[in-house]
Parts: sequence; structure tokens; C-alpha cells
Amino acid sequence: MNSRGPSRTAVRTAMYRAAHYLLDDEPKILADLFARLFAGFSTDEELLKTLADGSWSPVDFPRMRTNFGLRNRYAEDELFQAVQRGVSQYIMLGAGLDSFAYRRPDFMRTVEVYEVDHPASQRWKRERVAELGIETPAKLHYVPIDFEQETLAKGLQAGGVNRNARAFFSLAWRDPISYSRGCPADLAGSRPRERAGERACVRVHRARGDAEQGRGRSSLHACGSRRRGRRAVAEFLRACRPGDTP
Ligand SMILES: C[S@@+](CC[C@H](N)C(=O)[O-])C[C@H]1O[C@@H](n2cnc3c(N)ncnc32)[C@H](O)[C@@H]1O
Repeated sequence: MNSRGPSRTAVRTAMYRAAHYLLDDEPKILADLFARLFAGFSTDEELLKTLADGSWSPVDFPRMRTNFGLRNRYAEDELFQAVQRGVSQYIMLGAGLDSFAYRRPDFMRTVEVYEVDHPASQRWKRERVAELGIETPAKLHYVPIDFEQETLAKGLQAGGVNRNARAFFSLAWRDPISYSRGCPADLAGSRPRERAGERACVRVHRARGDAEQGRGRSSLHACGSRRRGRRAVAEFLRACRPGDTP
């Protein structure tokens, strides 16, 4: 993790979402009009020029564009359901350059949104947003946490999260264990108290086949019930900490 600039993966993820918006047919999975700007590109041409660079575009570029739109769309659809059930806080772990809070004023009227990210990435994003002259929504809270230095529970408390109100967590972040040893264990420790109707939704990337080359397949766990949700969380944690059953 570069301690001065934005995370490279956060920039790339935003670039994939911008590319999906520019290159894929309607209907879009996720129409992220902020992605290009947040990723640091002033014009479509500038972005397309970078995307055309063979060293950048992976072979499975169309699939990657779909993937990075889909995972955020999935979280947002689930959040919608959660809000109907009374959830009033959305906590985005490793938020990167996700533009949810800027793109979804419909949610921002009622939901407190907490963007958790490494301080360096978050600082860069905030500067970029200010430079673009975009106003930060009143219900958006930036919570800088370095998972390798601080626990999630402490960071969220310092960031003003209300422990007595229901929260929806998203973790649109491939393989957090490769960035931080603290994060998954900490998530296990701070599993929210369970209440009737509560759900846990985790999207897990599973390396199958040639994991060494980083070409893992992803699998999606849609959690329709509390029990299935708990199973998905358990699987997630097992995947992160082999041999250790939570
Ligand atoms: C793949 S990016 C997240 C993409 C984002 N969720 C999205 O959908 O656009 C991974 C994120 O993890 C954050 N990260 C990496 N190491 C971290 C650490 N030690 N503590 C907190 N965040 C970290 C990076 O700053 C980056 O924003």
C-alpha cells in the first residue's frame, strides 16, 4: 500500500466501472458517471487512450468490466432491501473510489454512509473530490483506518458509527487477506449482534485452478436468510484463515 497516493487497485476498479459506462451496451449494470473523474481522468479520450494501452488492458477486459460493476450493483440492491427492513447505516469497507454516496442521493436522504479506507487512499480521494468541486453529502462520513494498525471496531467507534443502530456492511474488495492480516480476523470479532431478520451478505472470490497466477474464479453468495448469511461469513473467514473455523 503506497502511503502517499491512492491505492492502485482502487484506481483500476474505478477505471473498469468507467469503461463499463463508456463501452458496454444499455442497460448498464451500474451507471457510474463519477468513476472516470474519481480515477483521475478529465476526459473520455484520456481514459480510452490509457485503456488502449496493451500493458494495461487484461485479456478478459469485458469480463472485468462486468465484474466490477456487478459487485457494487449487487451490494446496492441488497442495501435497498436492508433499508426496507430498517437498516440506517451503510459501512463500506475498503471503499476506494466508489462513488455510491455521490451517485445515490435517494439513499443519502436517510442512510448514514461510512466510507472506511486506508488513510492515504482516502486523503487522495477527498482531495480529488474537492478539486472537482463536488460537494460531500451531509450523511457521508470518511473513516480512515489502516487495518494493519488499528482494529475495525475501534476505528468505527472513532468514526461515529452508532453501535445501537442496524448497519449494512459491504466489502467489495478482492482478497483482503493479501493486503491486511488484521481485517478478516477483526471482522469475525466485530460480527454484529444478530437480530431477527438480519442478513449478512459476503461476496467471496475463490481462487480455483491456477491460483498462483492470480486467476481465481469468483463466486457470489447471495444470502437470503440469516442462516445462509452466517454460513457465507463462515466460509469467507475459512477462506481467509485456512484451518480456523469461526
Ligand atoms: C480493490 S480496492 C477497493 C475498491 C472499492 N471497494 C470499489 O468498489 O471501488 C481495495 C481498497 O483497500 C484499501 N486498503 C488496502 N490496504 C488497506 C489497509 N491496510 N487498511 C485499510 N484499507 C486498505 C485500499 O486503499 C483500496 O481502496
